[in-house]
Amino acid sequence: MKHNHLAERANRAAEENQAAVNEDPYRLSFHIQPPSGLLNDPNGLVYFKGQYHVFYQWNPYETNHGAKYWAHMASPDLVNWEELPIALTPSEPYEKNGCYSGSAIVNDGRLYLFYTGNVKNEAGERETYQCMAVSEDGIHFEKKGPVINLPEEYTAHFRDPKVWKKEDKWYMVLGAQTLEKKGAAVLFSSRDLENWKHIGKIAGSGMNGLGDFGYMWECPDLFPLDGKEILLISPQGLKPEGFQYQNLFQSGYFIGQLDEKKESFAHGAFAELDRGFDFYAPQTMHDHKGRRILFAWMGMTDEQEPYQPTVSYHWIHALTLPRELHVKGGKLIQTPVEELRALRRNEMKKEVRIEAEKATLSDAACVRAEILLEDIRLDGNSLTISLREHAFLKFNVTEGTLQVERPDFKDGQPETRSCLLEKLEKLHLFLDTSSAEIFVNGGEEVFTLRYFPSPENEAISFEADGGASFHLRKWELGT
Ligand code: FRU
Repeated sequence: MKHNHLAERANRAAEENQAAVNEDPYRLSFHIQPPSGLLNDPNGLVYFKGQYHVFYQWNPYETNHGAKYWAHMASPDLVNWEELPIALTPSEPYEKNGCYSGSAIVNDGRLYLFYTGNVKNEAGERETYQCMAVSEDGIHFEKKGPVINLPEEYTAHFRDPKVWKKEDKWYMVLGAQTLEKKGAAVLFSSRDLENWKHIGKIAGSGMNGLGDFGYMWECPDLFPLDGKEILLISPQGLKPEGFQYQNLFQSGYFIGQLDEKKESFAHGAFAELDRGFDFYAPQTMHDHKGRRILFAWMGMTDEQEPYQPTVSYHWIHALTLPRELHVKGGKLIQTPVEELRALRRNEMKKEVRIEAEKATLSDAACVRAEILLEDIRLDGNSLTISLREHAFLKFNVTEGTLQVERPDFKDGQPETRSCLLEKLEKLHLFLDTSSAEIFVNGGEEVFTLRYFPSPENEAISFEADGGASFHLRKWELGT
């Protein structure tokens, strides 16, 4: 009963806000976004009974972080999404302050969710319970309550279970903080999904040759890919180092080898997944086509969050587009899933040669588009792409850098994110009304950002000092 009551209340809040939300010129058109309120992490990514399921952390009532619900979307093709009834509401005492992040698996034809029950007790202290819920139809979930209580080695910052099967055993990795306030990834195993054994810390700050690496690790994911094993993690507390770790919190990966028996994950260096401003808490799924697909939260809990202009329309944040992952040359490569081609309308093709300084391509004007630059050849020192005169992508040949600039949300000052890049060969951009996802050289680097240009500005222009040429293709995208 209580669940139904909370779900109705949330739906009512969304209905009440709908008119305001629909007025927003920055509403996205081909991304998963909340009907109103705040969206954060993607949760429970899974392919079940012919559909992709994506859940997300949702505060239906406000554009700040409160007691989270699990909103639920499903799609047959990763392009057309249908909103399903709210999957989880914080209806029980063990989750009263939020059904926090987690994952999904399919077992014996049923869909299982594992998530964190977040509680603030009367003394104002945090409690954490790792919970399970089960569904026959993939729509209605029966809560089974906590299956793991907090082990004594960690603080109550212990959450975000990701579950998978290897041979005949289930494994779960959790994000944790040790009593010494160090971030860690913790492994559990189970034969029946209900009884879980604490194996131990498999990676963390001060382990496996890592120095101090943050005070908390959130949202771990661990999976095999192209003969390697990948640990994704969102560490908190890293300090900026050159171009790295510029956002308040990071998301990245280690390539390594999990040894379940030795409680270890031997791994190489940490690398960030995305170079942009708005990317956090990524999660992956393995689909029926054998692909490893990633979604992330296209947002961040930093001091700029409350200043995003969509807040005055009662909604904030979205998920990234789905990306397929591969390992190539010791790096994770991300490419937009091929299904997104179904969004393409009105192809434009052109050989572009910039002789003078600037080429403004009026027929490249767009708000929602996919833009592909191939065979990029630079005669001079730089190429700059202006996105609706509001965000700028600059490649500098002598510095060997690629940079994105946008005005910050708080006081409009330009801010940048950069990465080292020897050669710029290919750019693949997905522009929605107020977001840009920029795949560089076939997914070697990615920049993800929200930006809020003047709604009527559609100008895309290219500038090169010393001249440049490329093969350009552009499609309008969306509805
Ligand atoms: C990451 C996170 C998770 C937590 C969730 C709560 O953004 O802090 O660790 O489960 O958000 O919404």
